[in-house]
Amino acid sequence: MTTDLMPGALSAHAIRDEPYYRAVGDEIEIFAAAYAGRLPVMLKGPTGCGKTRFVEHMAWRLGRPLVTVAAHEDLTAADLAGRFLLAPEGTVWQNGPLTMAVRGGAICYLDEIVEARQDATVVIHPLTDARRALPLEKKGELVPAHPDFQLTISYNPGYQSAVKDLKESTKQRFVAIEFDYPAPAVEAEIVAREADVSGEQARGLIEVGLRSRNLRGQGLAEGASTRMLIHAGKLLRAGAPVDAAIRAAILLPITDEPDLREALGAAIAASLPAGLAA
Ligand SMILES: Nc1ncnc2c1ncn2[C@@H]1O[C@H](COP(=O)(O)OP(=O)(O)O)[C@@H](O)[C@H]1O
Ligand SMILES: [Mg+2]
Repeated sequence: MTTDLMPGALSAHAIRDEPYYRAVGDEIEIFAAAYAGRLPVMLKGPTGCGKTRFVEHMAWRLGRPLVTVAAHEDLTAADLAGRFLLAPEGTVWQNGPLTMAVRGGAICYLDEIVEARQDATVVIHPLTDARRALPLEKKGELVPAHPDFQLTISYNPGYQSAVKDLKESTKQRFVAIEFDYPAPAVEAEIVAREADVSGEQARGLIEVGLRSRNLRGQGLAEGASTRMLIHAGKLLRAGAPVDAAIRAAILLPITDEPDLREALGAAIAASLPAGLAA
């Protein structure tokens, strides 16, 4: 790793220990190839299926610091690029996280970019084509990207409404990697490892996850994510009873509809997966 050479501000973003990531397909190879060509990458998939963990793992693998920005509806171009601040010595320019990554050669991960305001998505355009530069409009400066800089965004197609979608002109700039909940055996391996539960318990939780995912479209926007199954596993691991763990980690967070919650709870309780039965 080249962390010693990182400018001060970025050394805090170095990933020193390998983040556990269980590959599901060829995503590691595709990302590495994209990085080699410094192509921007879009991770597409539902929430809680491993996108953030994957980019952390890739940053570690490639020896680059990772600057993550969680987009929200008030995120502006200035939040990404930077702004002038009033200081005792006058106005001083403060780099935003994107500028820091662009200058220092980090991987910048914009999580759920579609949430951000339009001007924030437009500011990334010049970084995603041959220009590879970030315009700091307020400062009248064009910052050329460090050779190691790379941009990754995440995007959950399930949530998007027509009014809140990425523009085609933005989408088409990215190489896309598709994510979904892994096959049951692989997901069980991940849950067992992350929650530190037995393989049998993990397989039971996966069965619960599958039942909830079967209700997708029938009132449930999304089924239980890998993240939720891990939460349930951690509650079990800490000694919570099975029904309480499932209720707290899955049934309550997944929907505000009491009827739907009851239906799902009943479907799970009716035949509790083997690994969870006492
Ligand atoms: N393939 C995987 N390898 C390792 N851990 C995973 C994997 N997929 C999901 N996880 C686990 O699920 C959790 C949620 O994943 P995360 O990357 O935060 O989801 P997303 O960013 O897609 O919403 C992670 O913290 C990790 O514990
Ligand atoms: Mg994430």
